[in-house]
Amino acid sequence: MIELLRNRRSIRKYKEEKLPQETVDTIVEALLRSPSSRGINPWEFVVVEDREVLKKLSMSKEHGSSFLSGAALGIVVCGDSTKSDTWIEDCSIASIIAQLTAVSLGLGTCWIQIRNRKHKDGRWAEEYIKEILGLEKHLSVESIIAIGYKDEVKSPVPKESLEYKKVRYIK
Ligand SMILES: Cc1cc2nc3c(=O)[nH]c(=O)nc-3n(C[C@H](O)[C@H](O)[C@H](O)COP(=O)(O)O)c2cc1C
Repeated sequence: MIELLRNRRSIRKYKEEKLPQETVDTIVEALLRSPSSRGINPWEFVVVEDREVLKKLSMSKEHGSSFLSGAALGIVVCGDSTKSDTWIEDCSIASIIAQLTAVSLGLGTCWIQIRNRKHKDGRWAEEYIKEILGLEKHLSVESIIAIGYKDEVKSPVPKESLEYKKVRYIK
């Protein structure tokens, strides 16, 4: 795990290649194994491979989502705030689990923030996405996790640049 974390970077350029079904299934299994407060599992996921839908979702925000159009997979992470007051934490955990599972499979991935973000017409990005996907009213959209075969190389963050000053020790 620590080696995976040492090498992990956000990847925003992907090859055209589709993912094998087995890979998609593994990521979905990982999502569903995510821990959640009191085991309520207030999340729901939309697993998108359709290129036209990915293109539409890539326009969710003016900045920071366009690369989704080139991804093999987008996982829309939704939460039901009526089920649990920790839906944001639970959805965030599921999002990072999807990312780390993708990295462990040799794939590139990047988080696209949706909650509290605006679409270009002034609507919330969430409203735009809910309309495209026909999501029920009670669902909120936390993130979209873009996944695909890497088409860019990024250096690991060197250990020397880690912000150790933000850690306090009580021994
Ligand atoms: C909560 C969260 C929201 C993020 N939102 C976006 C986003 O909307 N668009 C994007 O391109 N990257 C997004 N990122 C990726 C960060 O920009 C990236 O993790 C950060 O710059 C550090 O780079 P690294 O992941 O390569 O170490 C997000 C990451 C997190 C954890």
